[in-house]
Amino acid sequence: MQCMSKQVKNEKMEAIVSLAKRRGFIYQGSDVYGGLSGTWDYGPLGVTLKRNVMNLWWRHFVEQRDNMYGVDAAILMNQKVWQASGHVDTFVDPLCEDTVNKRRYRTDHILKDNGVDPDGMSMDQMDEAIIKNDIKSPDGNPLSASRTFNMMFKTHVGAAQDEGSVSYLRPETAQGIFTNYKNVVDSFYPDLPFGIAQMGKAFRNEISPRDFVFRSREFEQMEIQYFVHPDKWEEAFNELLASTHEFLHLIGLKPEHIHELDVPKEDRAHYSKKTIDIEYDYPIGKEELLGIAYRTDFDLGNIQRVSKKSMEYQIKGTNEKFIPHVIEPSFGVERALMAVLSEAYTEDSVNGEKRAYLRLPAHLAPVRCAVSPLLKNKPELVKKARKVYEQLKHELGNVMWDDNGNIGKRYRRQDEIGTPKCVVIDFQTLEDDTATVRDRDTTSQARVAIESLLPALQVD
Ligand code: GAP
Repeated sequence: MQCMSKQVKNEKMEAIVSLAKRRGFIYQGSDVYGGLSGTWDYGPLGVTLKRNVMNLWWRHFVEQRDNMYGVDAAILMNQKVWQASGHVDTFVDPLCEDTVNKRRYRTDHILKDNGVDPDGMSMDQMDEAIIKNDIKSPDGNPLSASRTFNMMFKTHVGAAQDEGSVSYLRPETAQGIFTNYKNVVDSFYPDLPFGIAQMGKAFRNEISPRDFVFRSREFEQMEIQYFVHPDKWEEAFNELLASTHEFLHLIGLKPEHIHELDVPKEDRAHYSKKTIDIEYDYPIGKEELLGIAYRTDFDLGNIQRVSKKSMEYQIKGTNEKFIPHVIEPSFGVERALMAVLSEAYTEDSVNGEKRAYLRLPAHLAPVRCAVSPLLKNKPELVKKARKVYEQLKHELGNVMWDDNGNIGKRYRRQDEIGTPKCVVIDFQTLEDDTATVRDRDTTSQARVAIESLLPALQVD
């Protein structure tokens, strides 16, 4: 029974990956040259869907609050950033090796794949579990003892290739926020609590990237550092957790698919005193979508120590001074996107025929509506449809012209990419200036006056 449900779930994942590629959402990176593992390219529909998710996040967490400040920091940063933050020493995963063919694996993944839960285990305990359970590599060979592997991509800045020119592709956007904390305070002097938000690329040399975009080597994060009085961290933590649930609702995730995990101390990142992971029921299983961490004054304290510049905040009109503490909600864009696609992917049957479609929330759909003439060889229909299309496109932007194949095929194609409504211009339109508006989810059709189309299609 268990096996069957796992198989069904993987079939769903495969169906999503195949739809994503076929319909221009997400392609393997460098595909034409055989690919580059852990990298993905967004196609015309994927880039819009991703931006819609990111724009919604920005609106929810930045624009609709009066104490949030946005930044867009450089990806390459002074190496001192990663020394002070602890990433050079501690941003590591346990790596073991197939002793025969030298293929490398993440030890915790090997355990998980063999039915052993690695949560809370030290690296030595993982090695013991491998021996005790007689676990071999996926090729059936003995595994080596584990060692740590730093996940940062190292590079050099400038012409000299020495220790002084070392830099890293940022593994989190957070440090670009911490290093701008002082700048924002100097420019705006906001009252506490206030937050600084950033969205952008992060890079991790994952030992085994897998599960589509879930674990990639290049991905995007949406992060907030929320600066608070040390006595008020708990209230801020709870407020941001509640706001996070609101956002997950906005992107269409059902509450029954969302779970909170209070991460035990031994599994928390080196900087965190409390972490709640939000997990989602992906087709691959229940996995981390995002995390909210209480980072205390760990980062600003380190910056002050290494840079010798004060990171203290003085409460206005008082002599009270301290280094603010930080609550950090950290979202992965790809994981949010994979949750959105998993939630939206639906199979049903229409007139006895199997249909697979994306039940995306209308405000996220890459195409808001498609406009078609019923028949493409009737110039009077095409002329009228073109006019309606241009008007709607002018107002809504993401409107698609679709006159390919018969009307049934057009509906299926639009359903598959999650287009909420299709507008069809037919002979009745020429008589009474109404069009057929067909709904993706119910497949029902209604006649709507052309002049009322815009309000019928608007979702904001
Ligand atoms: N600044 C805190 C931080 O980076 P993290 O738990 O390492 O914390 C935060 O990462 C989020 O970034 C994760 O919850 C996940 O959504 C996303 N993420 C991390 N590694 C990822 C990867 N290899 N591929 C895709 N998303 C990833």
